[in-house]
Parts: sequence; C-alpha cells; structure tokens
Amino acid sequence: MIDIEDIKKRAVIEIDGVVSGDELEVVRLRYLGRKQGEITALLKSLKDMSMEEKKEVGPLIQKLKEDIEEAISFKKKNLSDDPSIIDVTLPGRKTERGHLGIITQTEDEIRRIFNSMNFSVIDGPEMEDEHHNFDALNIPPDHPAREMWDTFWIKTGKEGGKNPSTSSGQERYLLRTHTSPVQVRYMETHKPPFQIISSGKTYRYEATDATHETNFHQVEGLMVGKDISLANFKFVISEFFRQFFSGKTVKVRFRSSYFPFVEPGVEVDVKLDDSRWLEMGGAGMVHPKVLKAVGYDPREWQGFAFGFGVERLTIIKYGIPDIRLFSSGDLKFIKKF
Ligand code: FA5
Repeated sequence: MIDIEDIKKRAVIEIDGVVSGDELEVVRLRYLGRKQGEITALLKSLKDMSMEEKKEVGPLIQKLKEDIEEAISFKKKNLSDDPSIIDVTLPGRKTERGHLGIITQTEDEIRRIFNSMNFSVIDGPEMEDEHHNFDALNIPPDHPAREMWDTFWIKTGKEGGKNPSTSSGQERYLLRTHTSPVQVRYMETHKPPFQIISSGKTYRYEATDATHETNFHQVEGLMVGKDISLANFKFVISEFFRQFFSGKTVKVRFRSSYFPFVEPGVEVDVKLDDSRWLEMGGAGMVHPKVLKAVGYDPREWQGFAFGFGVERLTIIKYGIPDIRLFSSGDLKFIKKF
C-alpha cells in the first residue's frame, strides 16, 4: 500500500528546508523528475495495477503531484522575495532617479544669469495680503485694472477685520496674482540703490488653455538707483535673452502698454531667428506713487521693473506646444528634460 500522506509530509519538510533555488531544484527532481522522480515512478506504476486499484489510487497520486508542484512554486516565489538570499550573478536592478522639473531648471537658469549681472535673488510669500498685491502697486479696490488679475481670495475667518493700510479698509488675503508684490516688500525694507530678481508661483482664477494656467510662475525684476532709465532696462533684458536663448539670434522690442504701477509701461516682445514676435511679459519705470508709498523720493530715485511668465520663456526655449503639459504628470514629457 502506498502511503500518500507520508510522501507528502516528507516532501513538504524538504521543500520547506531549502535555502536556494539550486537546492529546490534537487528536491523537485527527487519527486517530480521525469526519470527518477518518486511521484513519476508512482504514476508509471499505475499501468501495472488492476482497474479498481487504478480508479482508487490514480486520483490520489495525481493530487499528491499537484500539491508538491504547488509547494515548490510557492517556495520559489518566497526565495526570490527573500532579501537575505542574494544571487550575485543576477544583473543589477536599475533604480529610477528623479530629476528637477523643467520649470525649476528654467528658474535656476534665470537666477544664474541675473546673478551674474549682480542681481540679488530674493523670495516672497505666495499667500499675500491685498495691500502688497494691489494697493501698494497703485491698484485700489475700485480700480478697473483689478480685473486684469482674476483673484483667488482666501477665507481666513477674520473677514470684516479692519486694516487701515488697505484702501478697502479690511484685512483680506489672496494667492498672489503676480510676483510684483515682492518688489513692494523689498522696497519697504531696503534703501536704494539695488537690483533684485524673484521667481516663484503665481495664481489666477481664469480658464485654462494652451497658453494659460491657473497656477503658473513669474520672474520679477527690479532695479532702483540714480538716473535709471528704460535704456538700462533694454540693455539688461537683451543681455538676459542673449544668454537664455544662447545660440539663437534674439531681437527685443517694446510695445507701449499699461500697468498701474509703472509709467511708462511696456510689453516686451522677443523674436528668435526667423520666428514671429512673441510676448514675454510686462515692464516699465516704477510709478512715482509706488516709490513715494515706500518712502523713496521719486526725484532722487528711479527704477525699472519687469514681470515675465516662466512657462512662457520655457515654452519658447524648448518648443513646448501646450502649457498644460508642465503639470500633466506625463512621464514621457518629464523625462525629455
Ligand atoms: C503682470 O503680471 C505684471 N505684474 C508684470 C509687470 C511687472 C509689469 C513689473 C510691469 C512691471 P501680466 O498679467 O501681463 O503682467 O503677466 C505677465 C506675464 O505672465 C504674461 O506675459 C505671461 O507670460 C504670464 N502669464 C500671465 N497670465 C498667465 C496665465 N494665466 N498662465 C500662464 N502665464 C501667464
């Protein structure tokens, strides 16, 4: 009589005890090997049995074979998952490394170029108060220019609180709609002459399309000194573009424009090689009202300021078709840079 249970117990103990793939293979051959396997031999012996015996023992041996096969494949999987068993002959697994996103890379490049022109790099808060984002920039609450910046207002629970420094008379917070408040914060706490640059996130409550996002980045520049004029700005910005779009012929032009915090105001367009003119952002001479509000004498100090879209600069530099790709999480896009 064949003791199926005994064979099974033995096999299970042996399978359990192995510590490597090679040892497991030896055990597998001992039971299931085509020539000398114990179970294979049992299956072969079926042919010498009577019909009744076959009917009785056949399914039991078949079940035993399946059980052992299952125990072996289970062990195999465990062995390959077990970190203490290292097959040094296997090729190493490649670890995927992350890298800085293309916007961060562009910001670093912008900072590097301006830094080389003696601009200091500064930071400002993304959550702003109404005073710095609007009022101090000569944009009171009823000013139609506020509509140029669709705003995400922040609920603070302090609505209705009084703040005499804002012309609405209230303490109101928002996600900054541009990086220009950083200019004000810097001027409030520093004496000219100076030149600064600041890059970071900005937010606008507007519909998205291939060139507009609700969350994008701007880079702001400000230079204040004696006898500063738009000519100085034209030199600085042309030098920036020359370095940023290195290898391309860059032409720069100013188009008259309006921003309440500059006078005169311009839009800055760039033309690369033979492509068409493309708008990069706004700029101008800091408005005397803005200078006065931070305690500077506009007859003594003048300055230029500018604000460009970082996505816009990146899109043009690398020929990116849609601004929404930056935050799409699309690995094919991310890995290109
Ligand atoms: C401003 O935000 C002014 N603060 C710029 C400025 C600074 C003018 C200093 C004068 C002196 P404007 O709204 O045009 O201006 O935005 C500037 C640039 O930001 C645009 O040219 C564009 O490149 C980028 N930008 C604006 N809105 C979006 C948006 N929704 N998505 C992506 N980029 C945008």
